[in-house]
Amino acid sequence: MNQDTSFSIPPTLPAKLASARKLVVFTGAGVSAESGISTFRDKNTGLWARFDPQQLATPEAFEANPSLVWGWYEARRRSIMEAQPNPAHRAIAEFAELIPEVVVITQNVDDLHERAGSGPVLHLHGRLDQARCFQCSRPYQHPGPPSPEAGTTEIAPPACDACGGYIRPGVVWFGESLPDGIWTEAIRHVQDCDALFSIGTSAVVYPAAQIPILALGRGATVVQVNPEPTELDDRLSHNLHGKAGVVLPALLEAVRQHQRQ
Ligand code: OAD
Repeated sequence: MNQDTSFSIPPTLPAKLASARKLVVFTGAGVSAESGISTFRDKNTGLWARFDPQQLATPEAFEANPSLVWGWYEARRRSIMEAQPNPAHRAIAEFAELIPEVVVITQNVDDLHERAGSGPVLHLHGRLDQARCFQCSRPYQHPGPPSPEAGTTEIAPPACDACGGYIRPGVVWFGESLPDGIWTEAIRHVQDCDALFSIGTSAVVYPAAQIPILALGRGATVVQVNPEPTELDDRLSHNLHGKAGVVLPALLEAVRQHQRQ
């Protein structure tokens, strides 16, 4: 990854954000990278650079080898439980002190936005701590943290109390629909916002990747935060190239200073 985190906040941006009525914060794996959680597509370190999603992140993969899939996701659940929110998560939560309505729409399956104090948070791709039955969809309560061997070995999934089917991770896999109603709710917020941040996402997975474009179409101020360029760069006028944990606290402070003036 490019380590250059030199970015500058355009002089007119703090005023635009300070006058916003509603801010949507759209996040991807990069917002949790500084908490030690792997992204998907970063070269060498991304999960999909090291693992084959066809063997781990599809319903067919789970049917073929439930223990391999459950063991892999238990390792991810453990890394999330051990992680802490970083300065980006905290700054996002603090924007609610400056802007009347702030809604987080995340592709992440961790709960770091919630633990940093954000709310409401819409999880487009589910939550790893909200498992359910593969057959009857009954919610499953994890009895505790993942076992220490998670990630080093295959682990048989628990059985559903209701139907005896396998319990599956609470995430959206390739080829599956988003959780019921969530897209309609997300779009309702995007069509009503006057500012949107797109943070730490490669913006290549649909339908989520449409979100910044829809906000742009309705005339919102759209700000991208990412150390690397993405396909969005050419369409946006505010591309802050830097790490989320550095850029977001600086942006928060700039808006605070503007409001104090
Ligand atoms: P990606 O791994 O595709 O993209 C992560 C982005 O974060 C990249 O553009 C990085 O440059 C950027 N990044 C890395 N470190 C950063 C930092 N410190 N601060 C800010 N940005 C940083 O992850 P997503 O876009 O979230 O889907 O991927 C979207 C979906 O693809 C995921 O939700 C997942 C995956 O397959 C499902 O599991 C359904």
